This record gives sequence, structure tokens and C-alpha cells, in this order.
Amino acid sequence: MSATRKAYRAALLHSLADPADVGVEASYEYFEDGLLVIDQGKISAIGEASALLPGLDADIEVVHYQDALITPGFIDTHIHFPQTGMIGSYGEQLLDWLNTYTFPCERQFEDKAHADKVARLFVQELLRNGTTSALVFGSVHPESVNALFEEAERLDLRLIAGKVMMDRNAPDYLTDTAESSYEQSKALIRRWHGKGRLHYAVTPRFAPTSTPEQLALAGQLLKEFPDLYLHTHLSENLKEIEWVKALFPERSGYLDVYDHFELLGERSVFAHGVHLCDAECQRLAETGSAVAFCPTSNLFLGSGLFNLAQAEQHKIKVGLGTDVGAGTSFSLLYTLNEAYKVMQLQGARLSPFKSLYLATLGGARALNLESRIGTLQAGSDADFIVLDYKATPLLDYRIQQSKSIEETLFVLTTLGDDRTIRETFAAGRSVHQR
Ligand code: GUN
Ligand code: ZN
Repeated sequence: MSATRKAYRAALLHSLADPADVGVEASYEYFEDGLLVIDQGKISAIGEASALLPGLDADIEVVHYQDALITPGFIDTHIHFPQTGMIGSYGEQLLDWLNTYTFPCERQFEDKAHADKVARLFVQELLRNGTTSALVFGSVHPESVNALFEEAERLDLRLIAGKVMMDRNAPDYLTDTAESSYEQSKALIRRWHGKGRLHYAVTPRFAPTSTPEQLALAGQLLKEFPDLYLHTHLSENLKEIEWVKALFPERSGYLDVYDHFELLGERSVFAHGVHLCDAECQRLAETGSAVAFCPTSNLFLGSGLFNLAQAEQHKIKVGLGTDVGAGTSFSLLYTLNEAYKVMQLQGARLSPFKSLYLATLGGARALNLESRIGTLQAGSDADFIVLDYKATPLLDYRIQQSKSIEETLFVLTTLGDDRTIRETFAAGRSVHQR
């Protein structure tokens, strides 16, 4: 009995709401000496250790972490599994970067053995960085998605992924057809969607690489199966936007292409959205669609600065994405460090609690999974991480100067990276220890 039950004692911090909606103070819950009780892969209780320990069954083991903070596992709302091997590729902006580096790298995933090898490395890298859930692009090859889901299933991760649909404006070796993309996606949905904690995302790469026929079939899949996700790119780069207008002159703009094919909705996640007009923001909000804010990618490819204030004004759901391999780190702590600077360049502030929200509950809401992940509330999946205040000599010394959890949180997002993640738990199981 007790094997499935365990308790963890440390400082505990989680988001309860978006600070933009309720103000900073009401947006989080913090226990300086807290206890998190786990039962059968779920959180069964959270509170002050002094309040919970006396009532805890004697047979429940209590693990005590010193100089550590437990938070929900991080949620990466946009990342490319087949781009792991090309992270940090020099010198290009989006469209040339795709042709020069991305497509040749993704080609290798026609080989299942290669996909298996990279899937293991990719999932380990997520867990090393404290990411317990992610919305993931595969390559055009169904094998890439099989490899990734097999690895995620082995570790019982909550993961969403899909095969890229791409039937034009890409090398022949990397294109499918409208019909084959539909059939292959359907087979993957039948095999994986709803299995354990896995979900499927219909994944047209972006409007320029899909014919109208393919986008129509993507919309058809969303209608045929319940609770599918839609995952694509939107308004990342100015040349890309001009290209979309040239390819779809009958549509009023980039988002309207996706809207026309009925791809917007509560489980639709659009990466970037760097150059959106107010009407597009309004449409994203009213359809319950989400945007993945990918600061390291937007800076690395010179795409532009995401306007978080505009997204907040329109009440668009926003999650955080690493966008590896255009993004330069798997770490959502490092990604928040860059997000803060993106805001500074626009004369705005990213508060530490908004950062926490973006990396956890905001991501969960973007994925329509807030009842399962993103907080430490009782009933949630036991996906959580242990952050180490002493991960590096500098972090240790800096945190010793900290006067509040707010300051400590800001320092963690400014200096933190994979070294800061002491341990990662998925569905109550330890899946990474540093
Ligand atoms: N737009 C279309 N494909 C991609 C991709 O692989 N990465 C990024 N950042 N943008 C894209
Ligand atoms: Zn991307």
C-alpha cells in the first residue's frame, strides 16, 4: 500500500492564477516548510508540514529536501524533437534557416533507429531541465512520432505530439501529400491518442508548406476525433507573413488562413505570434486558441519581440516554448531569463510570479490541461520538480542575499538552468536525479 504513497518536505510554490487577472499576491501559494503528499501518481495533499505531518499515516515515507524549492514540472508548449541535433545553427533567419539546416536534419528521421536514439536523448534532456510535459513537433515521418511516444510511454509522461503535415514548398524528400498526411495522422491518432497520458496534435508545419487541400484535411481530422490538438506556427517572421499573403491572397491575413480551415479552438496552439494585429488577437482569444511565446527562438532567428502586454489585453492564453532547435535551450528557466529581456526591450516588466505562471499553469491552460498539470493542487498529476538553491556557488551565494520568495524566484529564473534541477518526478516517479 505505502509503496504508492510518499511525502516530500521542502519549500513549496505554485501558481493559482494569472497575475494579470488577479494581481500578484493572489496568483500563488507558498509554503516555506511545506509537505506534498503523493498517492498513486497523483497529489493527494499539500500544506504546511506542521499541519499535515501529525495526521500522516505512520507508514508513509517522508523525504526531506534542504535548500530546495518544489514547484510543478515545467510545461514546454512548443518544441521540435527532430531538431535536437541542429540546435545552435549559425547565421540565418527563419526561411533560410529552414532550408539550410532544418530540412536536412529532419530528413534523418526516416530511419526509425535514428529516431529511437534521438527520442531517448530528447526525453532525457526535457527531464534534466525539469520539463515534465511538452507539445512536440515530430518530423514528416510517422516513425519519428512512434519513437517519441514509445519513450514517453515508457516513462509515463504527459506528452502531446504529432507528425508534420507538409505537402509543398519543401524538398521532395520531406513532403507528404494531402491524402497520405491525412491517412498517416489518422493511424497515429488511433494508435496513440488517449493512450496513458499521451495526446495527439494535428501538426501542419505552417501555412506556406501546406496546400489548401491539406489544411482542409487537417480540419477534418479535428472534427473526426474528440480532443485532438492543433499545433502549428503563426506570424513569426515578416518575410514569412508576406509569403503567406502571396500564397493565400483571398484570405484577410495569416491567422485567417487557419481560421478558414477551422483550425482554431481550445486545443489549438500557435507558436510565436510575434507580429499579430489586434483583430487577430481578438480572434485567437474568442476561439480559446493559445500562443506559445518562444523568446530564445525569436531572438536567435531575429524574428522580433513578442508583445505579451497585447496578449494580456486580449486575454489570449499564452504558454512558454523553447522552440528547440531555433530556440537555444531546453531549459524553461533559461527561456524565462530571455523572456524577461524581451520585455525589458519593450519597456515592460515580467514579474517573477508571471514567469512561474507562464512556465507552469499558463502552459497547462494553453494545453487545456489545467485540471491535470501545472499546479500542486490535490488531484493533479504528481509531476513536480525539486529546484536546488545550491546548484552553483554563485546561485548559492546570491540566494543567501535574498529577502523574499519573490526575489529568490527571480534569481532562479535569471541564473537557473539544467544544473538547478535536482530531481524531476513524473506521475509520482522519480525520472531524473542530478
Ligand atoms: N516555421 C515553420 N517551420 C518552423 C520551424 O521548424 N521552426 C520555427 N521556429 N519556425 C518554423
Ligand atoms: Zn517551431
